Amino acid sequence: MPTIHYILHDGTEHAIDAPLGDTVMMVAMRNNFQGILAECGGACSCATCHVHIDPSWVDRLPPKEDLEEEMLDFAEDVDETSRLSCQLKVTKELDGLIVNVPEKQY
Ligand code: FES
Repeated sequence: MPTIHYILHDGTEHAIDAPLGDTVMMVAMRNNFQGILAECGGACSCATCHVHIDPSWVDRLPPKEDLEEEMLDFAEDVDETSRLSCQLKVTKELDGLIVNVPEKQY
């Protein structure tokens, strides 16, 4: 099972074994991490699952679909490391992924 490292706003790091096929958002929600709301439940229509990917991982992720790109316009503090965690499916290639969780969604 791939391990995903979630770094919360307070600096604490949680290494979580993530089931294949789940999304980075679903794993975060199951672990009750503050900072990810996922109000639409993963339908890519709320942008409250915004995270910042560690720069070393940005180019190793699947590219954003158009809808994810559009929804990111509704998130705060968006930069080149921004992704919607509901659009990132856990695959074995993501083993070791580092995700920075914002303090809150706006
Ligand atoms: Fe709503 Fe990701 S959970 S856009």
